[in-house]
Amino acid sequence: MDTSVPHPARRYNYWLGGKDHFAADRESGDLLAKAFPTARIAARENRDFLRRSVRFLAESGVRQFLDIGTGLPVPDNTHEVAQHIAPESRVLYVDNDPIVMTHSRALTIGTPEGRTGYVEADLRDPEAILGHPELREVLDLREPVALLLVAVLHFLHDDDQAVSVVSELLAALPAGSYLVASNLTLDYAPPEQIAKHEELLASGRTDARARDVSEFGRFFAKLDVVDPGIVAVSDWRPERADRPIAADVAIYGAVGRKA
Ligand SMILES: C[S@@+](CC[C@H](N)C(=O)[O-])C[C@H]1O[C@@H](n2cnc3c(N)ncnc32)[C@H](O)[C@@H]1O
Repeated sequence: MDTSVPHPARRYNYWLGGKDHFAADRESGDLLAKAFPTARIAARENRDFLRRSVRFLAESGVRQFLDIGTGLPVPDNTHEVAQHIAPESRVLYVDNDPIVMTHSRALTIGTPEGRTGYVEADLRDPEAILGHPELREVLDLREPVALLLVAVLHFLHDDDQAVSVVSELLAALPAGSYLVASNLTLDYAPPEQIAKHEELLASGRTDARARDVSEFGRFFAKLDVVDPGIVAVSDWRPERADRPIAADVAIYGAVGRKA
């Protein structure tokens, strides 16, 4: 593991106020937060969308979750939210960052009635994820599964590749399964911020590819999108009236159901 190179999981953990990051992650986080002063707000709102969507699904009867691009453990990890509502919930976590793997113990201590697991794998290789023995140990693919791709699709820059990865994963899940996804967007951003983002992306100082509403909508093309549709993550079934405006969040989120 090269800690001199910033990594999204650790930079995100830094923005969330966690403890698991190195100097390179903090420098990269500060640089991006200088260009996008609301980056920390966006990270917190994204995380809260993850919590609310998992709760919504658990309350809707979903008992299995495949959480790819898990991130470092923080309060309210997927299994904690789901098992709080339904202790028998089963959660498989997948991430490609070795440092997430070293923290995976905190992600795999769940209820005795439920089951949790962790697999180190890359979202770009859905076959390896679907064919992993741990996946079959934890999840029963004959029953509905919620596929969580929260703040991870923007690391797959090629639209066709990202859409094909999502389709391949969804194809392995039965009717009644769900997709939860979020992705950075510049749809609300002023031109100077769009130009700044393009400059950072071109120079490799950010690795997140923004998507507009139709690009993001492609992930949900074959699904029934649940209310309120594709919105800023902060506006997805919000619990607070005093939430930040969509322009400060700049992340789309949605939940869709496979018919
Ligand atoms: C911004 S964090 C999001 C964490 C969590 N899903 C959330 O929304 O709070 C992105 C995570 O995706 C992981 N990631 C990035 N690219 C990935 C890939 N190609 N395959 C698997 N995980 C990836 C990173 O290691 C990081 O943990």
